[in-house]
Amino acid sequence: MTLERTLSIIKPDGISRNLIGAVIGHFERAGLRVVAARMRRLGRPEAERFYAVHHSRPFFASLVDYMTSGPVLVQVLEGEDAVRKNRELMGATDPARAAPGTIRREWGESIERNLVHGSDSLETAREEIHFFFGAIDVCDRTDP
Ligand code: CDP
Ligand code: MG
Repeated sequence: MTLERTLSIIKPDGISRNLIGAVIGHFERAGLRVVAARMRRLGRPEAERFYAVHHSRPFFASLVDYMTSGPVLVQVLEGEDAVRKNRELMGATDPARAAPGTIRREWGESIERNLVHGSDSLETAREEIHFFFGAIDVCDRTDP
């Protein structure tokens, strides 16, 4: 296994329900480290670009409304097998189908309001990290 980085977003419902610490606790207990983080409110064009892959899906407009409805916390997580590990900790897209103990099963309200985003592959992770962060924003935490 190799050291990877992946993009995580705590979505507006996670922020408004004050679950930042709880969600990051899941990541930290599983051995992932936060190496960059920023709270911000996404603009509509930005949210549309971030989710461009879904632009023709029926849920697209509603997803953009939701993602721009309040601040989000965008983060870069680092660790062994970070992309897959983050997806595993998040659980399935639909909280009702997510495994017990996962973030979405624990706190997600619906298939849309499912609390967290996570990159789905190493290639997507690179693109998504670059979407929000420059090299200068990402801290090296591998040194003691
Ligand atoms: O986030 P994930 O990669 O698990 O799912 P996705 O298929 O890439 O969809 C992106 C986001 O769109 C989801 O996290 C949901 O917030 C939303 N979505 C939705 O509202 N309704 C669906 N049927 C599927 C996804
Ligand atoms: Mg996805």
